[in-house]
Amino acid sequence: MNLFARRRVADLQAEALKDQRLKRVLGPWNLTSLGIGAIIGAGIFVLTGQAAAQYAGPAIVFSFILSGLACAFAGLCYAEFASMIPVSGSAYTYGYATLGEFIAWIIGWDLILEYLFAASTVAVGWSGYVVSFLKDFGIVIPPAFTSAPYDHQTPAGAHWWDLWQLFVTGWTHTGAVVNVPAMVVVGVVTILLVIGIKESANFNNVIVALKLAVILAFIGFGAAYINRQNWHPFVPPAVATPFGWQFGWHGVLRGAGVIFFAYIGFDAVSTAAQEAKNPRRDMPIGLLGSLGVCTILYIAVSLVLTGIINYTRLNVSAPIALAVNSLGPSLAWLELFIKIGAIAGLSSVILVLLLGQPRIFYTMSKDGLLPPVFSVVHPRFRTPWIAQILTGAVAMVIAGLFPIGLLGQLVSIGTLLAFAIVCAGIFALRFTDPQIQRPFRAPLFWLTSPLGFAFCIFLMSGLPQDTWARLIIWMAIGIVIYFSYSLRHSQLRRSRGPTRA
Ligand code: ALA
Repeated sequence: MNLFARRRVADLQAEALKDQRLKRVLGPWNLTSLGIGAIIGAGIFVLTGQAAAQYAGPAIVFSFILSGLACAFAGLCYAEFASMIPVSGSAYTYGYATLGEFIAWIIGWDLILEYLFAASTVAVGWSGYVVSFLKDFGIVIPPAFTSAPYDHQTPAGAHWWDLWQLFVTGWTHTGAVVNVPAMVVVGVVTILLVIGIKESANFNNVIVALKLAVILAFIGFGAAYINRQNWHPFVPPAVATPFGWQFGWHGVLRGAGVIFFAYIGFDAVSTAAQEAKNPRRDMPIGLLGSLGVCTILYIAVSLVLTGIINYTRLNVSAPIALAVNSLGPSLAWLELFIKIGAIAGLSSVILVLLLGQPRIFYTMSKDGLLPPVFSVVHPRFRTPWIAQILTGAVAMVIAGLFPIGLLGQLVSIGTLLAFAIVCAGIFALRFTDPQIQRPFRAPLFWLTSPLGFAFCIFLMSGLPQDTWARLIIWMAIGIVIYFSYSLRHSQLRRSRGPTRA
């Protein structure tokens, strides 16, 4: 039994060409817009202010540059893979072609943390913005129905191997019943995604235009109000606290780990590879274009944000709206516009993440590693509708029950692991299959892929121990499923025979 049997890249390329069941309707603009749709969300609208106030001060700009660099290296590797193997399985398929079936399964299982859990996380953030927006108009939803009923506290001194504490006794009941708005938004987006990819992409384009307008308006109007005093000192002096370093260069690094979440999503472009008209050319454009646009915007937003309001005041759930509010009543319209943009922006993040997950399931199912029900395509809508509905249902339950902090860290660690494996994979493939045609080649791959790998592991190492423990348990569950189901149903194994695979 060879757990590391690889799928041949040539076979994957041929299959991708043959499989015409998903509609090929997306061009470079739609793909870039999908990327921007997935990237700009809770990270910039919520976490930037918190990370500036708690860790980096105005130097949050450097945190964005650092995190952006890690994503740029990973993005170049994704672009090479996505143009070479334009299959909707994304990192899962890349793993299958390079590091073998078992690692592919591990990535596929891990990507559930990135997509499904991230969609739930952002839905919880969406709920917070909607509640605050409705409150501005005097509409108050009882708090019992707008927050998570459970939270988890890890007592000081608990070790990551204290599983009983981590998974059973550490839970507290918050008194809330369920987060209704978070569940509703996941439900509505799921229905939209079942109806069609083109419809979903059009909806996404409208929202992306709106959220870009909001961000540009903030940068444009805000720049006129910058008070340079707020940037002094740009890197506030380091402070040691019981929870680690704040500020100084340590704080910049910690801040980079926190706002990494803001970049998550650019790789979702690669899950639409089988719905792209010309994936070989347009995948790199979509991946790197969306990443580049967002990096520039993030740096500009964080400069303006920390320039118009002192970073010490930014530890709030809507920091950008607060900053505009501080500029006086003449810009009240902009504050409202920003809230609307944030709500719309978070919706599109949920949309693209929920679009990606079933497409990964679809590919895993076609490979036999998941049951066939996951690759059933709707005869009329031509979307993987059953996988879409199952994904939506699970994401709804998670969004309804759990708090944003706990979910966000799981998403970050899962995504970093996937990025690290993609960087390792591109490196390995240059040696194992140098002859394959690569429409896009990551420049200086001997530097970019190891650096991408190292950056991701470095950012992972900064995440808390209990998040590591959850990742390990999640992976253990995945391994049990692999050996009890996937191994026996693998198409690759069937086609090559049980011993020669
Ligand atoms: N990057 C996405 C966000 O910030 C996940 O919401």
